[in-house]
Amino acid sequence: MHTLFQLDSHAVHVGDLSLTAADWLRERNYSQVFVIADENTHRHCLPLFLAKMADGPSPFAVCPLPLPAGEAHKTLATCERLWQSMLEARLDRRALVVNLGGGVVGDLGGFCAATWKRGVDFVQVPTTLLAMTDAAIGGKLGIDFQGVKNAVGVFQNPAAVFVDTHFLQTLPEHELRSGLAEVIKHALIGDPALLHFIENSHNLVQQDSVLPAFWHELLCASIAVKARIVTEDPHERGLRMLLNYGHTVGHAVESYFLKTPFPLAHGEAVALGMICESWLARTVIPDGHNRLARTLGVVSGIFLHQPVPEAAFAEIWDTMQQDKKNAASLVRAAVPTGEPFGMQILELTEQAVKDSLLFYNELG
Ligand code: GLY
Repeated sequence: MHTLFQLDSHAVHVGDLSLTAADWLRERNYSQVFVIADENTHRHCLPLFLAKMADGPSPFAVCPLPLPAGEAHKTLATCERLWQSMLEARLDRRALVVNLGGGVVGDLGGFCAATWKRGVDFVQVPTTLLAMTDAAIGGKLGIDFQGVKNAVGVFQNPAAVFVDTHFLQTLPEHELRSGLAEVIKHALIGDPALLHFIENSHNLVQQDSVLPAFWHELLCASIAVKARIVTEDPHERGLRMLLNYGHTVGHAVESYFLKTPFPLAHGEAVALGMICESWLARTVIPDGHNRLARTLGVVSGIFLHQPVPEAAFAEIWDTMQQDKKNAASLVRAAVPTGEPFGMQILELTEQAVKDSLLFYNELG
């Protein structure tokens, strides 16, 4: 199975790497291929990646220092370590960087590549469901700064994206769950058939019950929604704001929990955010209450309830006010209307957001 999505400047390939990426590389003439992995993907994914690329061009240089894993390390300090390794490997402008990992490796590795010597080519090889369906597609790169998620970054498309569902077999269940939040988001935004499919699938996140063909189908439907949006609006001037559904509240809640001993997975925060934002939208979009009920049904069936301490509400609002998506100091959230690709912008107040968090807490 090889499915190809042609975006404006590059393609997203879904299929076995030994067929997709190896051929792609053979057709190009990079001076060096520099693979970036974190501690997890170095151990669990790199051997599979190298085996699949055995017939490709050689040699591959693997960044000698695996990046520390996790959102807490999506920082300038990690960028410095990576740039140091690029310097030591004498990476020139004709080199290719391969980001082998989840959203953090893709965002940070892509950012380092896009700025190295004013920019070298990079490809995204996402290894988590979240990165396959969302983070690796659409050219958003960057790091967190002073506790604000993705505060520093650029839009820069990769030379290609290679999605190989074999890597999903290396993932623990909570990672699959986390990725499903973005798949559900895409379904709610633009694909009623995908939403129906998810609502009627059981044991979605239990590895043993899920076949590769299932992941291929689920991912292609989800990627199709994202690809359509980023092609139409690559720089988030309009429709792409819809992809932030669940993220306006979710990112701020995620930033809060990141500083506690119980960080939330990104997808858990987005799932929570989709519930809060659907609640905030319930009276302003046609059929809003039904929309909220449907969101609750599909999200609550997959994610555990994680109450948000009331003492944190003010800090969460403060973080939301710093969100780079805001304009003229208004806090805004884009929500789906129910029509495929229909969007409504909400202007949020502190009280309404606090009430939405209380609504969420009471679901537990
Ligand atoms: N993850 C949201 C976007 O790519 O725009």
